[in-house]
Amino acid sequence: MIRKGWDIKLRLLHWAIALTATFQQLSSMYMSNPGTQFLFPYHRIVGAVAAIVLLLFWLYSYAIYDLKMLFPWGRDARREVLRESFALFRGRLPRTGRGIGLSGFVHGLGLLALSGCACTGMIMFAMIPPGHVGPPSDPMAFTRYTLQHKFFGEMLWIYWCGHTVFALVHQLTGGHVLGSIFGLGRKRN
Ligand code: HEM
Ligand code: HEM
Repeated sequence: MIRKGWDIKLRLLHWAIALTATFQQLSSMYMSNPGTQFLFPYHRIVGAVAAIVLLLFWLYSYAIYDLKMLFPWGRDARREVLRESFALFRGRLPRTGRGIGLSGFVHGLGLLALSGCACTGMIMFAMIPPGHVGPPSDPMAFTRYTLQHKFFGEMLWIYWCGHTVFALVHQLTGGHVLGSIFGLGRKRN
């Protein structure tokens, strides 16, 4: 089966999501250090932007019927995911592009991890809005949300590492996946 490419709107949304989410992950590594605490306000603001981009990504995926590729719940779709998972153990890479299979399902799981970060992050944003001075009004609840935020952050790191490694392996084995998702030419539908 020939798979479709990504349309220009999805490629732009992917650019936005990859840049903002990756910034969030990298800034989180240094924003608790004494010399680089100035990164925290940026983490808050870019986090809010990432949450808005993510919402647009979900809405667009829903609008173009992409959800069944991100979450393959039908019997045939589940079989395809299992088949590609077993094939991976035998050294065969899953197929790339817009279609039902293991890659799409893993992208769905990545979006869930990012959504967990965005939801808990936005709750913390509301508890300490820009300009707020001093501790949050409910420190216990704030700590609980940071722990949940950390959990989703770790899931996002696992996704990010796997996603990037597979993208590079596909690219190096002649898949041209980077051009298909990051290219900005018009004719890729
Ligand atoms: C946390 C940051 C990122 C997230 C949340 C993310 C998410 C996604 C999602 C959801 C898709 C599938 C789009 C769809 O099915 O509608 C996708 C595709 C893709 N992403 Fe990312 N991405 C991220 C970062 C990156 C980075 C840094 C790279 C470059 C190494 C990359 C390379 C790709 C490629 C090559 C595809 C197409 C895969 C294929 O053809 O099967 N992504 N990404
Ligand atoms: C989609 C948006 C966001 C992403 C992807 C994200 C990602 C992350 C990641 C990966 C970490 C490191 C977790 C770890 O230590 O393992 C982190 C930490 C943190 N983030 Fe975010 N974040 C987002 C939005 C926000 C927002 C809007 C806030 C608002 C206050 C926020 C507040 C924090 C705080 C306070 C920590 C430190 C937690 C701790 O170490 O105790 N984040 N974030």
